[in-house]
Amino acid sequence: MKCFVLLGLLVVALAVGASAQCRCETMKWATCDGTPCECFLIVGNGDKQALNCTTLIPKCFLMKAEMYRARKGLSTRTIGGKPMETAFVDNDGIYDPECESNGLFKAKQCNGTEECWCVNSAGVRRTDKADKDLKCEELVETHWVRLELKHKETKDPVDPAKLKAAIADAIEDRYQLDKKFVSDIQYDKDARLIVVDVKKDIGDRTADLSRMAYYMEKDIKVLPLFKDTMKFEPDVGGQKLDLEKILVYYVDEKAPTFTMKRLTGGVIAVIVVVVLAVVAGLVVLFLARRREHAKYEKTQVRELDEIQQALS
Ligand SMILES: *[C@@H]1O[C@H](CO)[C@@H](O)[C@H](O)[C@H]1NC(C)=O
Ligand SMILES: *[C@@H]1O[C@H](CO)[C@@H](O)[C@H](O)[C@H]1NC(C)=O
Repeated sequence: MKCFVLLGLLVVALAVGASAQCRCETMKWATCDGTPCECFLIVGNGDKQALNCTTLIPKCFLMKAEMYRARKGLSTRTIGGKPMETAFVDNDGIYDPECESNGLFKAKQCNGTEECWCVNSAGVRRTDKADKDLKCEELVETHWVRLELKHKETKDPVDPAKLKAAIADAIEDRYQLDKKFVSDIQYDKDARLIVVDVKKDIGDRTADLSRMAYYMEKDIKVLPLFKDTMKFEPDVGGQKLDLEKILVYYVDEKAPTFTMKRLTGGVIAVIVVVVLAVVAGLVVLFLARRREHAKYEKTQVRELDEIQQALS
């Protein structure tokens, strides 16, 4: 009996292992599923092109997929995006946080209201909003941030190697974070996009990635937080790089627990239609009621008139 249970566990473990391996190394937009693993690419309106991921994908399929993605407004750039399925961005903006005496965020935040949520060590909401009885067991650490930076057009071409060095140096010199934490920097010259992965070991509680990311966000989006308000303009081979956009992805040691990942267009449309229908129904009801009321008042007046006439 026990033997069967063990065997069952083994099969499950193997299946899980196999599904984790089910991916297309040669095409990042591919969707893969099943055992044996099968991958395909969406190349038209719902058209699935089966792929052989042991080799490079034929250019014609790729171009078809790119045209499809461009029509759909999907990204065709080669770098960036979510570093992990569980990565998330800050959609809330700032709130009035509760801090520990050492400057850490309290795990539960309510922005001075009755509505509360749990945050990670970067103070970014990682649960749904709930009432004030919400429990946040612990402050979950953000151990990986991905910074997507976009720079403005430059006069001369940017040397990728020098660019990467300049960004790593800035993280160490300007943002005081050891550059050993910079695990990867990618550059897409056509998109003018720089993707910087800053990562620390799980369990590391000494380095704080949230400060660096916040200072850089302010540097690029608003104004520097430093007293000396010199702009953040990494010097790349004598050419100053002007950064115009930043997007920060957070990866926590534990996956966040949002229930509604995002409302897709279709779902939003349905909600709008339902709300409109309900409102229309209420308006009709209200008008009908009013008309009835008006009729009632009129009859009353008429009756009164009749009584008065009878009396006179
Ligand atoms: C995939 O491509 C490899 C290399 O060209 C080839 O050996 C293999 O037979 C192909 N697999 C399928 C299912 O077509
Ligand atoms: C926090 O409260 C302020 C003012 O009451 C509001 O402007 C802000 O949007 C709130 N932030 C969040 C994340 O709820």
